[in-house]
Amino acid sequence: MNDTSTIKVGILGFGTVGQGTWKHLEENADFWEKILGVRLIPSRASVRTLDKERKVRIPSDLLTTDSQSIVDDPDIDLLCELIGGIEEAKRLTLQAFSLGKSVVTANKALICEHGEELFQAAEAAGVHYAFEASVAGGIPIIKVLRESLVANEFPLIYGILNGTSNYILTRMENEGASFDSVLDDARELGYVEADEALDLDGVDAAHKAVILAYLAHGLWVDLKDITVEGISKISNEDLNAALKLGCKIKLIGVIRRNFDNNHVSVGVYPALVPMAEIIARTDGVYNGISLTGSVVGTVVLTGRGAGQDPTAGSVISDLVDVVKGIKGISASSKLVHVSPNQCLPAQAIEIEGCYYLRLSVYDKPGQLAKVAECLADHEVSLATVSQSPQGENELASIILTTHQTNEHSIARAIESLEGLDGVRGKPVLFRMFDPNPEKE
Ligand code: HSE
Repeated sequence: MNDTSTIKVGILGFGTVGQGTWKHLEENADFWEKILGVRLIPSRASVRTLDKERKVRIPSDLLTTDSQSIVDDPDIDLLCELIGGIEEAKRLTLQAFSLGKSVVTANKALICEHGEELFQAAEAAGVHYAFEASVAGGIPIIKVLRESLVANEFPLIYGILNGTSNYILTRMENEGASFDSVLDDARELGYVEADEALDLDGVDAAHKAVILAYLAHGLWVDLKDITVEGISKISNEDLNAALKLGCKIKLIGVIRRNFDNNHVSVGVYPALVPMAEIIARTDGVYNGISLTGSVVGTVVLTGRGAGQDPTAGSVISDLVDVVKGIKGISASSKLVHVSPNQCLPAQAIEIEGCYYLRLSVYDKPGQLAKVAECLADHEVSLATVSQSPQGENELASIILTTHQTNEHSIARAIESLEGLDGVRGKPVLFRMFDPNPEKE
């Protein structure tokens, strides 16, 4: 390691994920420094061609077509291997290990084929080899399997492991769109592998399933020995027929273990998945992984499985872990949160939302009007109103929902309602949860 106050990161492969990693390392440099006590500096990147137009621009003298020169550069402390493919990536990774440099990768094909050799080489060299971004893009599945769910054995792990094919199937299903037109959009969004057949023929998902099977069961399954099917034979007609059967067709990876004989089966294929499963309702570029553990029961993780930012997020999470490992900072040693900006509590007037209100009122003329007026005085606007009698006690229930307002206004409105002539007891209030309030 060079200067102890900085760690210089070399990025092998400046495609979708490489550019995203550079961008986020630069944008949040101060934050990483607060967490790690060292500055992470993206320093050099390798490309196949220098003159290609790229969305993330960096000084031209930091770009090279010679990946080897970055691995060998004594100023580079850590490497991100994001070139994909197998032979060159393997050679560069092993060389980095031999120079005492840790490597973070998103290369599922490489780990699937040579994981055992690479893990052993990293261990022998005393360096880290981290691969969170290799499975399910932005979903932290590797960490969850290895750390959070370590108390479990897994009879079943299954789910959607390829964002491109899920994106294509979802748009075919929702819009009746053709396979080819949606594939064009997926390319534009940076979801698709350089070798598109990997996505469309199920091989990319199979690479990921093999990695998960290893992490869950310690068994390397050979791709040649398992069922791997893609999405090319799925038609709009099949998708519609599946819906009528209460299912969706999803490309899923399935890893089952029979604990009577410890046999593990791995496969990737399109299947009709019942709508009751979260995996069936996981659409678009999202991946979803359902893990059934012997201790925890079933845990389902969903999130963006491809694309620049989610995948770069996983690369950076690995970089931070590796630097913590190098610096001897234990993951749990910092209980006190370090934030990029100081946060303050929100005021009631800033906390917006819609509300449900139930009031007991005397069932007499003008009562509803008084309630509406009271709410209007506090600038709470009504969305819906319904009233029904409460049996024989001359009382009625009024159920109201409001348009968007805030905690301050609704609290004042409730106070006034409680004091209103004709209102009996305390109004019942529930918040109407909206995960995307900005749509309002
Ligand atoms: N092409 C891959 C996918 C990228 O669509 O899932 C993420 O591994």
